[in-house]
Amino acid sequence: MQRFWTGAEGAGPPVIDRAHGVHIWDKSGKRYIDVTSGPIAVNIGHGNERVLEAMREQAGRVCFAYPSNFESPDSTRLSELLAGLAGPGLDCAFFVSGGSEAVEKCLQFARRVALARGQPGRYKVISRNPSYHGSTRTTMSLSADPAYAPYLLGCPPGIHIDAPWSYRLPQGLSAAEHASECAQQLRTRIVAEGPETVLAFILEPVMGFCGGATHAPESYYREVREICDEFGVLLIHDEIVSGAGRSGTFLAADHWDGARPDLAILAKGLGGGYVPLAAFLAPAALVDAVAGEGGFHVGHTHKAHPLACAVGLAVLSETIEHKLIERARDTGAYLRAQLMHLQGNSTIIGDVRGLGMLNAVEIVADRDSKRLLPRSMDVVGRVQALARAAGLLIYGRRTHAGRFGDWIMVAPPLIATRADIDEIVSGLGKCLATFERELATSG
Ligand SMILES: Cc1ncc(COP(=O)(O)O)c(C=O)c1O
Repeated sequence: MQRFWTGAEGAGPPVIDRAHGVHIWDKSGKRYIDVTSGPIAVNIGHGNERVLEAMREQAGRVCFAYPSNFESPDSTRLSELLAGLAGPGLDCAFFVSGGSEAVEKCLQFARRVALARGQPGRYKVISRNPSYHGSTRTTMSLSADPAYAPYLLGCPPGIHIDAPWSYRLPQGLSAAEHASECAQQLRTRIVAEGPETVLAFILEPVMGFCGGATHAPESYYREVREICDEFGVLLIHDEIVSGAGRSGTFLAADHWDGARPDLAILAKGLGGGYVPLAAFLAPAALVDAVAGEGGFHVGHTHKAHPLACAVGLAVLSETIEHKLIERARDTGAYLRAQLMHLQGNSTIIGDVRGLGMLNAVEIVADRDSKRLLPRSMDVVGRVQALARAAGLLIYGRRTHAGRFGDWIMVAPPLIATRADIDEIVSGLGKCLATFERELATSG
C-alpha cells in the first residue's frame, strides 16, 4: 500500500498490532499515545467494549440490507438520536460511508432543494480558502488547495473567498474586523456571481488540518448566516472534524448564537473510527419538499449500512452516557492551558488555539514576528518523526503547500484523562525543544 505514496515497498510506517483506549501498540511492542485520534476520528478511544459488543451482535444478525428493501432499526434510531443532539432544524440524517461522500451527497441534496423551490438556476457553491472538504473531484475543487490542480483538469473552477484567521491578522485589523471583511467577501462574491445562480456556501466552523483548529469570532458566523439568508443561499457546515462532540458541544455551531446552518455534515467521530460512517443532516421541511418533488434517490451501495449504523449508535450512546462532550470541554481547556505553559518556554510555539478537544500549536521561526519557517523545510513531517520516536502518534498533513503556516494538531480521544494530557504535553514539549535546538544549530 505504501508504494502508492512513497514509491517504494517497505518504506512506510510500522505495522500495527492492537489498540486500547488512547494507546496503540505496533508489532515490535512499542506503545504510542494517540495524540490526534488518528486523523481526528477516534473520538471515544480504541477497543470500546460496548461498541465491540454492538458490532458482534449486529454482525451476528445481519450486516447488510439495502435501504430500499429493508428499514434498518438502528439507522432509524441513530437518525432520531442525531436529530435530538443536533437540535431543531437538523431533523433528518442521510447516511453514507465517508466524509467526502457525505459532502457530495449534501451538495446533491442542496441542488434538489433548489429544484423543489423552483430555482433551477442555482448551482454554484462558494467555499473558503483555505479549506478541506474531501478528496473526490468535487470536494477537491471546493478545497482551494493548489496541490489538487492536476486532478481537476476539466472540472469547473471552485469559487473561493478568504477564511478568517485569528493568529496572523492583516495589519491594523482586529480579529472581528478581519472576520467581518471575510464575511463581506461572501456578499461581494454572491453579487458578482449572480445571486440567482448561487446554491450554497460551505465552511468548516472550526478548521481541521487546513487551518489548525482556527475559528472565527462569533460575529462572523452570524454575519455569514445573515448574508446567506439575504440571498436565499443554503449555509452548509462541514462538521466532519468539529462535530460529534469534539469541540465541546455536539456541533461546533452550538458555540455561537445565530449561527445555525441549513445543512450539517458529520463523519470521523460519528463512527469513532470503528466503521466507515458519515451523514448529512437536513431540516424535515427541506426533506419533505424534495420528497414531494420525486425524492432523493442518489445513494451508494453502503448507504445506511446496518452494521455501520448499529456501531454509530453505540459510539454516540457511549459519548452521551459517559458525558464525553462535557469532558471534551473541560479536558480541552486543561490541554490548552498546559500547551500555553509550554509556549511560555519556547521561542517557536507561536500560537495555541482550539475549542474543546480540537486544538493545534502553530510553529513559527520566531514568536515575536510570527514569521513562518522556510517553506522548503518539512516542519510538520520533522516534528511528527520526533514525536513518533518518542511514542506520540501525530497525524498531520501540509495543505496549501504550507502557505498559511505549520501546525501540529493536538486532538486526543475525548476519553483522555488529565494524566494522558500531561504525558502528551510533556512529550510534545521535549520534541519541540529538540526541533528548536536543531533549528538553532542549522543556523
Ligand atoms: C473538514 C473535512 N471535510 C471532509 C473530509 C473528508 O472526509 P473523508 O476523508 O472521510 O472522505 C475531511 C477529512 O479529513 C475533513 O477534515
